[in-house]
Amino acid sequence: MSTATGAIGLSAPWLDERDEELVLEVMRSGRLSLGPAGPRFEELLAEAVGAPYCAAVSSGTAGLHLCMRLAGVGPGDEVITSPYSFVASANCAIYEGATPVFADIDPETLNLDPAAVEAAVTPRTRAVVAVDIFGYPCELDELRAICDRHGLALVEDACEALGARYKGHLLGSHGHPATFAFYPNKQLTTGEGGAVVTGSREELELLVSLRNQGRLETSSWLQHGRLGFNYRLDDISAALGIGQLEKLDRILAGRSAVAGRYAELLSGLDLEVPFADDADHERSWFVYVVKLARGIDRDAVIHRLAADGIACAPYLPSIHLQSYMRERFGFGEGLCPVSEDASARTMAIPFHARLAREDQERVAEALRSALQ
Ligand SMILES: Cc1ncc(COP(=O)(O)O)c(C=O)c1O
Repeated sequence: MSTATGAIGLSAPWLDERDEELVLEVMRSGRLSLGPAGPRFEELLAEAVGAPYCAAVSSGTAGLHLCMRLAGVGPGDEVITSPYSFVASANCAIYEGATPVFADIDPETLNLDPAAVEAAVTPRTRAVVAVDIFGYPCELDELRAICDRHGLALVEDACEALGARYKGHLLGSHGHPATFAFYPNKQLTTGEGGAVVTGSREELELLVSLRNQGRLETSSWLQHGRLGFNYRLDDISAALGIGQLEKLDRILAGRSAVAGRYAELLSGLDLEVPFADDADHERSWFVYVVKLARGIDRDAVIHRLAADGIACAPYLPSIHLQSYMRERFGFGEGLCPVSEDASARTMAIPFHARLAREDQERVAEALRSALQ
């Protein structure tokens, strides 16, 4: 997968003949939805993350939305989440008429700072959406303790963190509902898709009904027991997911090796590489995000690399500063200074499981010359 002089994209899925075979099998069977591939994918995914139950859904966003239903979030409630995340971490609360409340992040892990979460709790708080940003596990024990103390639901947005471990245990196996996402830049892709895993059978039953237009286990096709959604994952996508799960270990190992090479190649440059693992946190590599030194013109760096055919992107903007958030909730600069500082300085560089060493060398060289 080397492109000695060609363009180097930001991400690329790992697709192979086995994926094609599995997808074709579904197409030839004619059972494109509600066939056997969905349950098989769920079974394998549950096993891969050590979760008792798994409900596949049409996207990570859909999964987070359903988690809000599990938590009983509704109008007038507040849901605390991280400003340094993808918008879906906060939008899921808004879909249910609740108000997102942003607690600031830790400057190193870029995940929610538990002390900031504790300080953000009010009598209206109903849930915390804890994000494992860039695949680095959040402070689950501290966050769970806060939730237990205040009677809040804990929902994990593990959309970027398939395969990561907290305190030695895979994310998804900790009992509370956790959502994964399978857009093509993720560790595992189904095209579009997602899944919610949980340790609770009752939650699984509710998820299965809600994603399928509120049908009950006992309902016939046009009988609906509650207001639901069409958040089903189709069988073509599920089949692709099965192919991806079969090689998940190789995908994760490849990503880890590429990250290790970047750490070497970028050492000595005036930038911070992603925070290292420790005994409690084992990252699953999703993107490779570097933090530039203060005063560096990030846009100029990005343009410079683009001129060499290397795709980079500012990553991530703080959610509370998105225009619709400012307009609707009156959020502004200064609400979460750590997140805002990170947002001003972080950028994603090309990253995927099969990125060739020569391409990484080109990226590192281009960065070196852009930062001089
Ligand atoms: C942290 C986070 N949350 C939620 C999502 C939403 O997932 P999807 O794009 O599958 O709806 C994503 C994916 O982009 C994500 O990175």
